[in-house]
Amino acid sequence: MSRNRQKAVGYALPELHLFASTVHGLEPIAAAELTARGHRVLGIRKRQVLVSSPPELADDRPRTIDDLLIQLASAPDPGPVKADLAALRLDVELEPIRAALDGGEATLSVSASMIGRRTYNRYDLEEAIGTHLARRLGARLASRRGGARPPEGAVELRATLSPEGLLLGLRGRRAPLHRREWRKATIPGSLHPPVAAAMARLAEVEPGMTVLDPCCGAGTILIEAAEAEPSVRYLGSDRDPEALDAAARNADGRRQIEWQRADAAELPLPTGSVDRMVTNPAWGRQVRADTPFQALLDEWKRVLTPGGRLVCLLPPELPSWVEDAGWTVEKTVQVSVSGRHPLIAVAEKRS
Ligand SMILES: C[S@@+](CC[C@H](N)C(=O)[O-])C[C@H]1O[C@@H](n2cnc3c(N)ncnc32)[C@H](O)[C@@H]1O
Repeated sequence: MSRNRQKAVGYALPELHLFASTVHGLEPIAAAELTARGHRVLGIRKRQVLVSSPPELADDRPRTIDDLLIQLASAPDPGPVKADLAALRLDVELEPIRAALDGGEATLSVSASMIGRRTYNRYDLEEAIGTHLARRLGARLASRRGGARPPEGAVELRATLSPEGLLLGLRGRRAPLHRREWRKATIPGSLHPPVAAAMARLAEVEPGMTVLDPCCGAGTILIEAAEAEPSVRYLGSDRDPEALDAAARNADGRRQIEWQRADAAELPLPTGSVDRMVTNPAWGRQVRADTPFQALLDEWKRVLTPGGRLVCLLPPELPSWVEDAGWTVEKTVQVSVSGRHPLIAVAEKRS
């Protein structure tokens, strides 16, 4: 039995060491979701959550993370210069890679990400790890240098390097978890699905509620919310018919979501009829924003029930402005997506 599978708790209970990769800022939300699903959190690093998990959770698909990998090796940061990389000797568990290679094409691919200044790049790191492993396993290494994509059927490994250490994980032949099967169409500004899933968690949606996204775009937030809690009435509206077409394609038969064309500042909904609003309105970067945000917030206050909650993705400068408009911001979570650092604000209306 491999080290990774051994855990003595009274009698032998096999456990796996896994690690989740996350959007920076979502680590605590991801850790909470992983815990709720039966994983045991061992540590939280920037963009990573390390867990110990029962073997049946190796194929788990939490929604707030980018990926979940079997940990094959963990080592201190080798150092910032190329000579450090040349001296890197990783103690890698080969058994899970052999099992993944079994019966298919014997091609390995390593994708790496790095935090910190170094005189080598991610391709150098990928090759330092992959060349050695491929030789030991009798496999071919498909280099990703220059942005090359690994061939169909390659077994994928993922390395993450930061001053906190080097982790090597096995994804195998499946796609990363953030790539959702439901997603057939996007619009400019479509949200990274794990961020949408985290926003839905922050909304604390309960069965029987009515949940609205008044700027629904291609429907990411409501589809992610419905995957986590189906027994809810979801209302998605947008003024752009093309966005609504994309949303309907993506939702594909999820009958609890209703799509409607509407202006987010003049919603065709009764006062106090919505328990939760979860949304990322246009900020004028990827999508034109010509409705004053004040007008949106006033209308959203009208349709929310007393005690209703708004979860909204905003540019970092906006939350004090939300307070001024009669909302209490209960919590903010800063996330790093596509080189930007917006805030998820959780707010309740004051008046
Ligand atoms: C950033 S996108 C939302 C992306 C969406 N969350 C997704 O993942 O696809 C903002 C959306 O707000 C819509 N929008 C902008 N102003 C609006 C308004 N006044 N009323 C309704 N929708 C509006 C745009 O058409 C766009 O679809």
